[in-house]
Amino acid sequence: MSDIVVIGSFVADNVVTVKEFPKEGQTVLGDTFHVYLGGKGINQAVAARRAGCSVDMFGCIGNDSNGDAFLKLLEEEKIGLKGVKICSHIATSVAQIQINAAGENKIIVIPAANHAYDKKDLHDAEPYLKKAKMVLIQMELPQSINFETIEMCADLGIPVLLNPAPACPIPNSILNKIDYLTPNESELEILTGKKSSTLESVEEASQKLLDCGVKSVLVTLGKRGVYLSTNSQKKLFKGHSVNAVDTVGAGDCFNGVFASYLVRGKTIEEAIMAANAAAALSVTKHGSTPSFPYEEQINKYMQS
Ligand code: RIB
Repeated sequence: MSDIVVIGSFVADNVVTVKEFPKEGQTVLGDTFHVYLGGKGINQAVAARRAGCSVDMFGCIGNDSNGDAFLKLLEEEKIGLKGVKICSHIATSVAQIQINAAGENKIIVIPAANHAYDKKDLHDAEPYLKKAKMVLIQMELPQSINFETIEMCADLGIPVLLNPAPACPIPNSILNKIDYLTPNESELEILTGKKSSTLESVEEASQKLLDCGVKSVLVTLGKRGVYLSTNSQKKLFKGHSVNAVDTVGAGDCFNGVFASYLVRGKTIEEAIMAANAAAALSVTKHGSTPSFPYEEQINKYMQS
C-alpha cells in the first residue's frame, strides 16, 4: 500500500521531431524518431515516485512488447504494479506525437488497452484507495471509470486530484467531489465554456469551478507559470525561463510532483513551487518519463 495511487493510462509515445508542423495536406521531412514510454497516468506515477513518495499504479496494458516495457519501467522505478491488468485481446495504447523546433507538441492517442480497464478492476483497487493519502486520475481511461473513481474517493474520504486531460465537460455532481483540479488553459475553456487567454479570464473561469464545488483549481499556464485559486487564496506562481526542447509530459510532471510534495506534508505553495521547478527541468530534455527529475534535482534547482 502506497502514499499515492494513480489510476490511469499507459501509452507508447511514437515521437517525431520536425522544424515546423506540416500544414494540412503537406508532406515534410522530419529530424528524429523515438519511442518513449508515456501516457498521462504512468507519467504522473513516475514523476510522483521520483519526487520521493511511494506509488501504486492501476491501469491496463496489452500482452505485447510495449506492455512488457511498461512492466520493466514499473519495476525499475519501484512503483507498485499489482493493479496493472494485462489484456490478451487488445494492444497497449499508442500515441503519435509531433514536436516542432520550439518544443511544442501535437498528440493523438489511440486508447486501445487503456479503455479495457473496467468497473471490476476499479472495485478490486478499493483496498489500495482506502489506504492512500491521495489518488491521482486523468481522463485517458473510460469516463465512467474516472467519474466513479472520484465518487469512490469522496465516499472513502481520500483526497483526489483530477488532471482533466484530454478535457471534456464534467457534471457538477462530480466537480463538487474534486479536491485538486489541474487544467491547462485550453482544458479550462472546455470545462467552463469561458475563454481563458488573459489572467483575468483564467481567474474568472477558475472561480466558476470553485462555485461548482471544486476545492482548489491549479491552472498550468506553460512558461507563464501556474495560477492557484481557492476560496481563500488567488495567486500566480511565475514559471521558470528555460530552453525548452520537448514539452511532452511537462503537465504530468507538474501533477505528480505536486501530489508527492503535498502528501509528504508540504504546503500547497511549497508543492506548487517544487512542481513548477520540476516541470521546467523536464522540458529541457527529450521524452516524457525519461525527462522527469528526482527529488534532489528539484530541490537543488529551487535553491539555485
Ligand atoms: O501528457 C503527455 C502524454 O499525453 C504523452 O505521454 C502521451 O502519451 C499522451 O497521453
